[in-house]
Amino acid sequence: MHQMKPDIEALSESILAYAMERMRMDPPTIDHPLPQRTLAERVGQTITSNGLGGEQALKLFIDTLAPACISEDHPRYLAFVPTAPSEVSTLFDLVVGASNICASSWLEGAGAIYAENQALRWIADIAGLPAEAGGVFVSGGTAGNLSALVAARFDWRQKSPDHDRQRGLIISSRGAHASVGQAAQVMDADIVQSGGHQLTGADVAATIAALPKADRSRLFAVACTAGTTNLGIIDDMEGIGDVCAAEDIWFHVDGAYGGAALAAQSTRALFDGIERADSFIVDPHKWLFAPLDCCALIYANPEKARTAHRQHGDYLEVFYDGIWNPSDYAHHLSRRARGLPFWFSLAVHGTEAYAQAVEMTLDCAREAATMIEAHPNLEMVTEQRLSICVFRRVGWSPEDYKVWSDALLERGDGLVTPTKHDGETVLRFCIVNPRTSRKDIQLILDTL
Ligand SMILES: Cc1ncc(COP(=O)(O)O)c(C=O)c1O
Repeated sequence: MHQMKPDIEALSESILAYAMERMRMDPPTIDHPLPQRTLAERVGQTITSNGLGGEQALKLFIDTLAPACISEDHPRYLAFVPTAPSEVSTLFDLVVGASNICASSWLEGAGAIYAENQALRWIADIAGLPAEAGGVFVSGGTAGNLSALVAARFDWRQKSPDHDRQRGLIISSRGAHASVGQAAQVMDADIVQSGGHQLTGADVAATIAALPKADRSRLFAVACTAGTTNLGIIDDMEGIGDVCAAEDIWFHVDGAYGGAALAAQSTRALFDGIERADSFIVDPHKWLFAPLDCCALIYANPEKARTAHRQHGDYLEVFYDGIWNPSDYAHHLSRRARGLPFWFSLAVHGTEAYAQAVEMTLDCAREAATMIEAHPNLEMVTEQRLSICVFRRVGWSPEDYKVWSDALLERGDGLVTPTKHDGETVLRFCIVNPRTSRKDIQLILDTL
């Protein structure tokens, strides 16, 4: 198993050839899921005592398993939040796999961590975070929000022995991603929902003023959103930052989707106030052209996160020599250097190319909104924001939307799924792929 024998040499050629073929598909087939029973019939049992052999296992993947996975990078995949890795970031993911770096500690992964930290620094700079800001790449926004809020609660508990046995409380908003609520559940903390679709400083101040004294003492964080997943709304971070500073509460910003638009000149001002965040996340696997899975988690004061997250153990003591250990900044220990594909792409292309690529997707979304407005059967439901368009097909029931969405995928034309806005079933485009063109949008709109 651990030797580069001739059959493994041959297999590596086949694997690399397939990887290159997949990368060259322009566009890739979008594909679709298959029922468990169909997969069982077509694939059968793959784990056997003697093994299938490399070519056979690869053939199963190429012929049957891969086509049962949707291609997230297809230019007409506009559902949820797609991913659109740059060519070089995908290529470098192969290198990260081959290098098998454990990027938990400086001792094990200094070179990789140095590079990851430069990529994190760029994000901290476009957000205007202080020079000492720093953090780590984790698997996704869900892990990033949880680790940030764990650090926030730890910091609050450090402030008074009374907090030790108190259940914490977080203020969040209606537009916040489900992962914020999930983090609270994992932490056994409570959430108070504040404001409307956009959370403002006034909403947070009013919610705090209305809290009973016992609840006010449990409040440790405000989790706001810089680009809500459903509508692309950016909360009022200037106002929320003011309230958090005045009330001495941790200010967390979830920019998992929207934070990428910090890189674009046309949208940068919408994020004013973010520079005061205690913690901030953005997912390069969403709109910064990196492959899954990659979330940048950055703290204004990393020392606070380190105290909260560092794992202690006799065998780990060799790590604690004052040099940067990524394992100290989130709920994890072993980690792949998942920030490296993003770093490599940023290093190869430069930040200007990133700014332009984000602008391209923003332009495409603005144009899509104009095309929707001009369409006889369609109406925009909310103002076009960031790279999201939310719209209705006049006269359609929820069932009509589902039938249309299923048929679009079945034909291999795209993936656009219904969402809800104020209880109404509607459609939503989320455009993060610079390969998505006006023609792609037109092709979809022509079926509505
Ligand atoms: C605003 C926001 N936060 C958090 C998440 C969760 O991110 P992940 O799926 O990477 O865990 C998402 C996912 O779409 C998101 O849009």
